[in-house]
Amino acid sequence: MINTNKKIQKLIKQNIVDVVYKSSTSISQETYVVGGAVRDCLMDRNRKSSDLDFVTLGCEMTLANEIKNKINKNLKISRFKKFGTAHINFNEINIEIVKARKESYNSSSRNPDVEPGNLLDDLKRRDFTINAIAVSLNDKNFGELIDPFDGLNDLENKVIKTPTSPEITLSDDPLRILRGVRFSSELNFEIDDSLLNAMIKNCDRVKIISKERIVDEINKILLTDKPSNGFKLLDKIGLIQILIPSLNKLKGIEEIEGITHKDNFYHTLQVVDNISRVTNKIWLRWAALLHDIGKPNSKRFDKKIGWTFHGHEYIGSKMIFEIFKKLKMPLNSSLKYVQKVVMLSSRPIILSENIVTDSAIRRLIYDAGEEIEDLLMLCEADITTKNKKRREKYLNNFKIVRQKIKIVEERDKIRNFQPPISGKFIMSIFNLKPSREVGILKEKIKDAILDGKIENEYKSAFELLLKEGTKMGLKPKINEEKV
Ligand code: CTP
Repeated sequence: MINTNKKIQKLIKQNIVDVVYKSSTSISQETYVVGGAVRDCLMDRNRKSSDLDFVTLGCEMTLANEIKNKINKNLKISRFKKFGTAHINFNEINIEIVKARKESYNSSSRNPDVEPGNLLDDLKRRDFTINAIAVSLNDKNFGELIDPFDGLNDLENKVIKTPTSPEITLSDDPLRILRGVRFSSELNFEIDDSLLNAMIKNCDRVKIISKERIVDEINKILLTDKPSNGFKLLDKIGLIQILIPSLNKLKGIEEIEGITHKDNFYHTLQVVDNISRVTNKIWLRWAALLHDIGKPNSKRFDKKIGWTFHGHEYIGSKMIFEIFKKLKMPLNSSLKYVQKVVMLSSRPIILSENIVTDSAIRRLIYDAGEEIEDLLMLCEADITTKNKKRREKYLNNFKIVRQKIKIVEERDKIRNFQPPISGKFIMSIFNLKPSREVGILKEKIKDAILDGKIENEYKSAFELLLKEGTKMGLKPKINEEKV
């Protein structure tokens, strides 16, 4: 049995909760703390979110104004009259006050029809029993836990259930399907069988939810300690096929002439778990999730060598734009980062398998730039073989690649390097307008530096420029100064 007393004391002693208590008392309006803050405090869990939710049996604006007056008269209150909610943001804490309500939904929208209700009505319209526990902020029973749907019991048994019939709870608001998966993955809770069945039955209804909210939940699942749990659940419910169908295509093992390949869906989930042990970077976790996305479109069977996936990184990185666009994800530097890491994701492996030349290392450092460390992390996470010896061998190969990178980086300073001769300089030397020739000459200098044929400095680059330019029939102006 959870000893709730001490935990609740900790919650109600929080500054903001105390201000809300004083405010609701001074206007004699019954008020309770609810939602995630109560759940997390009962679980002794450090809260990731800084939201505090309150339910009040009266006007939400009257309470919000009283709170504002007590904290800072200049604070802004955002009101959503239709839903009876008022928000105040103070010191990065989101204070949400909701007028106790009953809700009913219609099937084509997430937005409920709202009418006033009592505390029980309000707890009943919530998503899960573990989120439908209230703590009283009223003198008559201050600090008392109000738990009409046995949420505490479900917290103890680590199970996610709905306060009323799962069918109603989910069809009321299908975002709850994703929230349920997220809570299960985040808290390591089981989903109650009847709820899981209702999730499967209602999965198509996520189509009425805005993409931004869907991605918000996917990101939260990706940021859990073991995201594979959440993704396996999404798969079981049928949501992978709806949300990221190209991930669904990674599923399955094909066999020809007794030769099989691995199931790339489960391999991918393993890679996501592996990377999650070493980084919290959301976009690197996305790169892990999508790193093999190009495999189904590049899969071939070769009688001599078996299954091949040539060019899957290139194909995959090209697919990522559509995936992001469909999910209305940012089409900015985060997209470019994921595309780049996926595109380069096999390069270090090739280096680890063959005898590594300095030139290959230099090229990798140049192409990966700032992303080199993330790329290596992904490559190490990509090792999912159960064979211990092989695993050791691969990891050791990457150690060697890392050492080589360190040596070459320190010596040649290739990362983010700019060739010592610019396009503008090439144009002035050969009296050229912007043209293909300028690009070719620039590329030759860059390649010669990366291949170690010349030093990464002006004099050697200038000599090469004259030589290559002359070969192309260009005439240099004499006695040119460096520009
Ligand atoms: N809620 C709900 N249905 C939703 C969203 C929220 O019933 N689709 C209710 C739940 O009671 C939830 C509360 O509103 O606990 C607050 O929601 P939110 O702040 O989104 O989530 P938390 O449960 O507080 O979880 P966290 O902040 O940790 O993500």
